[in-house]
Amino acid sequence: MTQSEQILRRRTFAIISHPDAGKTTLTEKFLLYGGAIQSAGAVKGKQSDKHAVSDWMDLEKQRGISITSSVMQFEYDGYCINILDTPGHQDFSEDTYRTLMAADSAVMVIDAAKGIEPQTRKLFKVCAMRGIPIFTFINKLDREARDPYDLLDELEKEFGIGTYAMNWPISCGINFRGVYDRKRRCIVTFDDFHGGRNRLEAVECELTDTEKIDGLIGEELRRELVDNVELLDGGGNEFDIDRVRSGKLSPVFFGSALNNFGVELFLKNFLSMTTPPLPHVTVDKTTVDPFESGFSAFVFKIQANMNKAHRDRVAFMRICSGKFERGKEYLHVQSGKTGKLSQPQQMMAQAREIVDEAYAGDIIGVFDPGVYSIGDTVCDPGMNVKYEGIMTFAPEHFAEVEQIDSMKRKQFAKGMNQIAQEGAIQIFFFPASGMERVIVGVVGMLQYDVLEYRMENEYGVKFRRSAMPHDVIRRVVSLPEKTSVKDLRLSSETKWVKDVKGADYLIFDGEWSVRYALERNEGLELCEFDDRQV
Ligand code: G4P
Repeated sequence: MTQSEQILRRRTFAIISHPDAGKTTLTEKFLLYGGAIQSAGAVKGKQSDKHAVSDWMDLEKQRGISITSSVMQFEYDGYCINILDTPGHQDFSEDTYRTLMAADSAVMVIDAAKGIEPQTRKLFKVCAMRGIPIFTFINKLDREARDPYDLLDELEKEFGIGTYAMNWPISCGINFRGVYDRKRRCIVTFDDFHGGRNRLEAVECELTDTEKIDGLIGEELRRELVDNVELLDGGGNEFDIDRVRSGKLSPVFFGSALNNFGVELFLKNFLSMTTPPLPHVTVDKTTVDPFESGFSAFVFKIQANMNKAHRDRVAFMRICSGKFERGKEYLHVQSGKTGKLSQPQQMMAQAREIVDEAYAGDIIGVFDPGVYSIGDTVCDPGMNVKYEGIMTFAPEHFAEVEQIDSMKRKQFAKGMNQIAQEGAIQIFFFPASGMERVIVGVVGMLQYDVLEYRMENEYGVKFRRSAMPHDVIRRVVSLPEKTSVKDLRLSSETKWVKDVKGADYLIFDGEWSVRYALERNEGLELCEFDDRQV
């Protein structure tokens, strides 16, 4: 296969959802279709240990790097698929957002009984900002679900996007009979739904075949479906692939990941609608074509080793163009140094493997002795390219951090600055005080644990952390005329802080204080998504 053919068949996407919506179950079904795993339950839980046997994995365990399946690669229907995981719950951190920078599209899993939930909302915002296509899978139709129109309405209103129902559920819960496929104008139902949960036989039947449909789903559901189809065809959005690809129209699928219903239909349609690797923008605003012959990649995530005996880290890179070849010399643009990438690995379902070659769209992890930073570019030495860095994401938790041992002032400052520079935390200061009182902002609480652990083990410093009630931060873009930040009329809990470069920020205890600030100070402009780069 030529390099271009290899790139053309790549599909790299992230799965976003709120915990428990069914992301793992859906991923597992994708892997089953791809033949990458043999049994359900292998993605999480004890069974995965059986598969995790590669040498690298042992090394990883010994050295104490947590085994997170950051990216999984598998083949399906001629496509080479890279799924990027966006960890939730305890693992939610700024890295979760950064991962989205490496995806060309996103699959959004929504629990049909719950609709949009907080984590989906946060992750969606980042995808929308990048303008990548978003495909929606509304899951758990085998349980009592909210009205499908209601769910679509919520997506449109809250997210400001159009939706296009690719299929339509035939009832839900105990009465769930399957879906109507709008493209093929047929119903896909199943035999013996409640009898054999995992072995569903799909039965297809055209909507015009009234007699057969009545036999399959009953007259009442058939009539209801015909009404819904008329309503959708008459009143819904038009399908427009360009709007899908620019992230303005989200194709919506209904199904049940657990019962494997509607999953393959989703996967097939999704793959045909998504794009191969997209071009990436450089600092001088030119774009690099993925099919270009030269290899180039950017670092989007760095995972620090938590074992103090081994300070190395793993840098995850998204390949933007060309082909990676193991053993070849590449240029690390930021340091100007050329060398081989050490131990390049890829995650293939459960096993990590050393890769000999990889293509645009793929993600590789390389051992990092401490040279890479988030946003760095690695490329062929002859290629003159430097990708735009990765933006920082607004922290949602803040804490004041003070060193316990005043004799260790230097180490404290060094550690905090270095760890912040790596992008593991963000630090801010009150305008009047320096390094004595540091405000640490994080996206997920896990980042505090990492900070604590690393400060103690790498810099020998303990600190006291006091949580702050704030959860919203905005950068001050412009002030009302003849006003400085300290003259602003703000709610009593709002705090003025600066980042390391001296830029002004306000931190708030809730959205209402943001509104308060904007209403009371005409001409004040605040920005939510920060263009500061790591
Ligand atoms: P997550 O990765 O998004 O957090 O969700 P996950 O797939 O782990 O699913 C969360 C729970 O929802 C699991 O149940 C899973 O079996 C269930 N689930 C997923 N898809 C469906 C579906 O289509 N229908 C129904 N009825 N349930 C579904 P659990 O009891 O928490 O875990 P487990 O013991 O089944 O693993």
